[in-house]
Amino acid sequence: MKLFIYSSILNADHDNMQSEFDRVASGGADGIHLDIMDGRFVDPVTFDVPTIERYTAMCDLPFDAHLMIVEPEKHVDDYIAAGADSVTFHLETAQNPGRLIDHLHRRGVKAGISINPDTGVEPVISLADRVDLVLFMSVFPGYGGQKFIPGVLDNVRELKRHCLKHDLEIMIQIDGGINLETAGRAVAAGVNNLVVGTFIFRSADYGATLREIREACTGVKPDF
Ligand code: DX5
Ligand code: ZN
Repeated sequence: MKLFIYSSILNADHDNMQSEFDRVASGGADGIHLDIMDGRFVDPVTFDVPTIERYTAMCDLPFDAHLMIVEPEKHVDDYIAAGADSVTFHLETAQNPGRLIDHLHRRGVKAGISINPDTGVEPVISLADRVDLVLFMSVFPGYGGQKFIPGVLDNVRELKRHCLKHDLEIMIQIDGGINLETAGRAVAAGVNNLVVGTFIFRSADYGATLREIREACTGVKPDF
């Protein structure tokens, strides 16, 4: 299966976003990952809806909205209207995840679910046949540039085995602390979508960095 790399723009240069988008798009990123924070589920507050509208108009890549917000069901329609192609919400915050997944599909976007590093994988497994994407947080949400928590790879392996057993083809995405070393370990565990922020935006040549990440993941031996 193809390896997708989505660029998290949390730590990009927000005074020069057109150039940032152009550089990741021409450098070979497969999508843009938007970290949406409300100051309640996590402390920081990020992108408001008008900013997201501006950003989605600047770049043709698919936009992935990662909602780190409470009461996601109240806000998903705003993010869809602003141009998100897929919407991922946290199981820690959703009242009725199944209903929200159905709502997202009815609105014509891909539906994703996410869990924090210390949340059990069981609710993810039981919803896996209803979603397009599962996002495993490999840091505690809120900030870019944190250190990868390797224990989450056990959850990735468990979902991967479940998907193989039940013939499910979904995106298994990981987010937080991805670099040349952790990317390979995540892919070995069954990840096919890497969210990478700081490691790209702190580098001088985004295209070269994206290529290096792909190379680091080529031919890794599965360990799920
Ligand atoms: C953290 C976010 C991220 C993250 C990316 O709350 O979900 O997408 O900033 O992580 P880094 O910067 O470590 O690649
Ligand atoms: Zn994220």
